[in-house]
Amino acid sequence: MRSAASAALLLASLLLTLSAANLMAVDLGEAYIKVSVARPGRGLELVPNEQSKRKTPAVVGFTQDGERLFGDAAVAFAAKSPARVIFNARRLIGACAEGETDPYPKCKPATVTVEGVGTFSGVHAVAMLLAMARRQAKAALDGGKVSDVAVTVPSWFEATHRADVCNAAAVAGLNCLGVVNANTAAAVKYALDGKVVNAADAKASKDNKKKKGGKPAPHTVLFVDAGASGISATVARFARDSASSTVSKIDIVAHASDTTVGGAALDEVVVSRMADAFDKQRAGTAAHKEDPRAARELPRVMARLRKEARRVREILSANTERLVAIGSLHQDRDFKTVVTRQELVDGSKHLLPAVTRPVLAVLDKAGVSPADLDAVVPFGGASRMPAIQELVLKALGRDVMNKSINSDEAAVIGAAFFGAGASSTFRVRKLDVNERFKRTVSAEVQRDLESAGRLSLSSKKTRKAAQKVVVFDAEKGTMPAKKTLSFSREDDCEVKVFFEMDKKGESTFPGRTVYAHMKLTGVKKVLEKVGKNPGSKKGATGKQTPRVALTFRLDRSGNVFVSTAEASVDETITVEREVVIKEKKEKKTKVEAPKDDAKKDEKEDGKDDAPKEDAKKDEKKGEKKKAEKPKTRIEKREQSIIHRHTLSVEYLDAPESIRSLTMMGKPLDEAKKVLKALEDADNERAERADALNGLEGYILGARSKIRGAEEGDEVFEVSTEEERTKILEKLDEAEDWMFGDEAGKTINLRKKHHELRDLMAGIDGRIEGRRERPKAVKQLRDALEEATPKVAELAKLHTERGSKHAGEFDGFAKLAEDTVKWLDDEVAKQEKVPATEEAVLTVGMIEDKFAEVGKEIKKLAALELPPAPKEEKKDETKDEKKEGEKEVKVEVDGKEVKVNKTEDEKKTEGIPDPDPAAAKTGANVETPAKDEL
Ligand SMILES: *[C@@H]1O[C@H](CO)[C@@H](O)[C@H](O)[C@H]1NC(C)=O
Ligand SMILES: *[C@@H]1O[C@H](CO)[C@@H](O)[C@H](O)[C@H]1NC(C)=O
Repeated sequence: MRSAASAALLLASLLLTLSAANLMAVDLGEAYIKVSVARPGRGLELVPNEQSKRKTPAVVGFTQDGERLFGDAAVAFAAKSPARVIFNARRLIGACAEGETDPYPKCKPATVTVEGVGTFSGVHAVAMLLAMARRQAKAALDGGKVSDVAVTVPSWFEATHRADVCNAAAVAGLNCLGVVNANTAAAVKYALDGKVVNAADAKASKDNKKKKGGKPAPHTVLFVDAGASGISATVARFARDSASSTVSKIDIVAHASDTTVGGAALDEVVVSRMADAFDKQRAGTAAHKEDPRAARELPRVMARLRKEARRVREILSANTERLVAIGSLHQDRDFKTVVTRQELVDGSKHLLPAVTRPVLAVLDKAGVSPADLDAVVPFGGASRMPAIQELVLKALGRDVMNKSINSDEAAVIGAAFFGAGASSTFRVRKLDVNERFKRTVSAEVQRDLESAGRLSLSSKKTRKAAQKVVVFDAEKGTMPAKKTLSFSREDDCEVKVFFEMDKKGESTFPGRTVYAHMKLTGVKKVLEKVGKNPGSKKGATGKQTPRVALTFRLDRSGNVFVSTAEASVDETITVEREVVIKEKKEKKTKVEAPKDDAKKDEKEDGKDDAPKEDAKKDEKKGEKKKAEKPKTRIEKREQSIIHRHTLSVEYLDAPESIRSLTMMGKPLDEAKKVLKALEDADNERAERADALNGLEGYILGARSKIRGAEEGDEVFEVSTEEERTKILEKLDEAEDWMFGDEAGKTINLRKKHHELRDLMAGIDGRIEGRRERPKAVKQLRDALEEATPKVAELAKLHTERGSKHAGEFDGFAKLAEDTVKWLDDEVAKQEKVPATEEAVLTVGMIEDKFAEVGKEIKKLAALELPPAPKEEKKDETKDEKKEGEKEVKVEVDGKEVKVNKTEDEKKTEGIPDPDPAAAKTGANVETPAKDEL
């Protein structure tokens, strides 16, 4: 198996980026979520969760306090409080509440209510999971921004489900780049991994007698995804350019699925087997008499068995039996039982036949026989179950599967590639993916809508039946796709777009569904353009029926939308052209006939009025000057032009319309609010925990410091018994306070923390002063001692050279003297202060003095010194450095200033850096760095 790291490296080379945006892909399974990221220059990689696991249970739990738990923590919590955990977030997507008879989206959507927290729809729950995925991606990106997401969905997801997945992304504040079928994503990964190249090449070399040169043979693969909620099979065909060896195109030939068998259904078999064992073991015991309920009536017992079941089922893929031991399962009694693989198979007898159904169905749909398959690639958690593999292989008459892609990462990496392709900030390797779409899309165009509602004697029109056409045929077409419908209409009309029922009826989708209901307006407007051209027949009006062209697009995620709508009408105009009869020089072409390309675009009819007028004037002029002019004749020609008008498309808010499912405006804002409130609460909780820990830790630390004070140690020496007793009292008070109401607010916790710090400030400050004061005193003394003679020397130079600054040095000696005296006095005063009292000479005061002196030294050092009198080499250019001259760098306020100094001046270098910060930290100022330069 390829390691994740080397796969990431390989993929990195496929992905070139244009900006620094990151995108994330989420493999939204029913049981697990996997997350990957595409980041500029780094390629595609799966990102692990906080526990370094590659998949996270798609579970959200809510503690009694309303804290949210995700993944394994939520699963563990479910054993205690099953009613506070949402296990089936994805299953809630596109589902109706119990008892609803109308199909989704007409029905009331299914929701989950968590007591004390709220009621959540599938969109809410999936949004929480996507937000969790984003945190995971962000952590992997060291806090990098993640705003775009691509999500995998099972191939049986209807447009309603797909729309809701994108809605969930929007609620989580993510830009939905699209949804992609998990199997298609896996096929993309298969292509990216170079599996096609190897296999097809091997094949080609085997039968190279037949196919020499030419195009590489297509490569056909059956992907079988056995997930928690169903089995989905896909036939994909990979094509390569003859020129390159990489896959250039993936044709998804067919999908088929079955949702009766999957990991979750098999887990129930294990749960059922364990529940039976539980009941059997308890039967007749005293405990049973005390609580006669069976396992299935005990939600907590069932929750713990369920939690165990998945692991048991997974282990039984590799082992033939598994000992299950659950401590104090009920009434403080442990539960033990052995589950065997055979029991699982026997218990799944009713489910397993369904495994082969989608496999055979997809081959049938694709028109492919098992022998045509170059590979059979399984993935998904349940694909590891030997019974499932055996059934698939038996149905195909094969011995082995091609386990060539990583079950966990295939779909999520493929989805990231899909996302990168849909995003404008990434540039990906060219790979066309022709996806199948699930349902035939048809449209009904209503006729003569207005007349139907108008009582008019003159109008004998009656409402005719709507015209129905297939827009995208699921049997034959692929997506992305585009199609234009053309029809004739006299007036505005309504169009309904439908999703047709699957002919094979293999899905639970409720038959024919209205996808969108829209009204096209402005049809008549195009007629107003008729008759305005030069050459138009007199009084010509649009008596014809306009043609309406409606262009539909089917995007990569399966969304259908109208991209353009326009009405057009033809007009035949007479084009006149003056032709010179004799070969004398032609004066002018009188009439600007509409050009030929007017056919293509004749929107600006108004403009053509002007040349028409001009032409008439010219004609009249021409008549007057007839004699002088060369002979011409008028040629008439008929020409057809097309007038166009863009129609406005108004979506009628039909409640049954799937399109209205796309969350926008208020509903979206409200759902976002729900999620944000939870997130804020989580953040507040985290901050509170932080503040609580901080305060608790401070109290413990301070108390042990004060309590532990004994003769000879610092705390003891700087504090009095009375002071210590008072502090201990306050600390105890604070500890009690933490259990009170006021401590419920994070801000109060922080305030209390500050209070205690202030309480300790006296002792802490005195200890600090005892340690740091002597050091600071010494540093200031040393600095003054060293600087004084150097400043004096510099002063001397200034005087010798007649510098105008010479006078400025006068005060320094006094400043130095005063400072030393100040220091002596203060130190003497401080020595008289008892250690338990506030200091009179603080380190801060010494630092201030240091800064004052330092400022003066810097000022003096920076004064411009006139050059030493020159003795020789007068011909030298003055710009050149003199011999012995040296460039010296001096730092002033952190900035480097270049100072040129001659030999003479060099002795004045080495003024200690009067850096208060250095003094504070005790850095060595006695050896100024400047000397080295
Ligand atoms: C799939 O497995 C079969 C049987 O082992 C093998 O013949 C075939 O070459 C494999 N296909 C690929 C693409 O590796
Ligand atoms: C140092 O000398 C160089 C060359 O003589 C001169 O260009 C530069 O301006 C001088 N720098 C200072 C700070 O005087």
